Amino acid sequence: MHIVVGNVKGGVGKTTTSVYLAAAAAARGREPVLLVDSDPQGSAAEWFEQHPVEGVELVESPSERTVVRALANSAGIVVVDTPPGDERIVRAALRRADAVVIPTRAGGVEPSRVLATLEMTPEDIPCGVVVCAARLGTNDLDATVEDWASAKVPVWGVIPERVGIAAGPAARIYREGLEAYQEVLRRAMRAARR
Ligand SMILES: Nc1ncnc2c1ncn2[C@@H]1O[C@H](COP(=O)(O)OP(=O)(O)O)[C@@H](O)[C@H]1O
Ligand SMILES: [Mg+2]
Repeated sequence: MHIVVGNVKGGVGKTTTSVYLAAAAAARGREPVLLVDSDPQGSAAEWFEQHPVEGVELVESPSERTVVRALANSAGIVVVDTPPGDERIVRAALRRADAVVIPTRAGGVEPSRVLATLEMTPEDIPCGVVVCAARLGTNDLDATVEDWASAKVPVWGVIPERVGIAAGPAARIYREGLEAYQEVLRRAMRAARR
């Protein structure tokens, strides 16, 4: 199963979401888990250098050719972190997805970037958004969740803003974040199987 994490905007939470989804997949303990870092910046790879996640194998694939190869030779659950810019890499990953997870933020200029990412994804592949670093109980967040619902884009998760998640590679996987992403993984896998 290929779960591709993408949003053409940078700094929304793609790498964080990819690492936590891979950790959530490993926590199932049922199948091998591969995290494919297709961002030439290598943020997920750097994360793993500091703090590898137990049960997750990481491979760097910073080009269209290498991402295609990584996704051809894979079993179990594969999570793909994608770059914000390199459209060829992003499209190659999106075309091979069983489900696409689109991290976003509440409010402002975000929806157009999510829509651009949705447009790049083949029509028959299920997509869901995850609102990252969310401030729970704010009007902004409520409005964002309602907007996606009325646009018929499923919201697979709302991940609260937490220092423990912001710590990223400097700290271990943060329990509350892991639990929230376990739910995102369940929803993505359910959508992929339909
Ligand atoms: N739930 C969260 N709580 C706090 N900070 C978060 C959360 N999710 C992401 N971040 C922070 O947001 C920033 C961008 O996230 P990152 O995953 O690197 O985005 P991208 O890969 O899309 O560029 C990072 O500093 C990350 O730690
Ligand atoms: Mg990133």
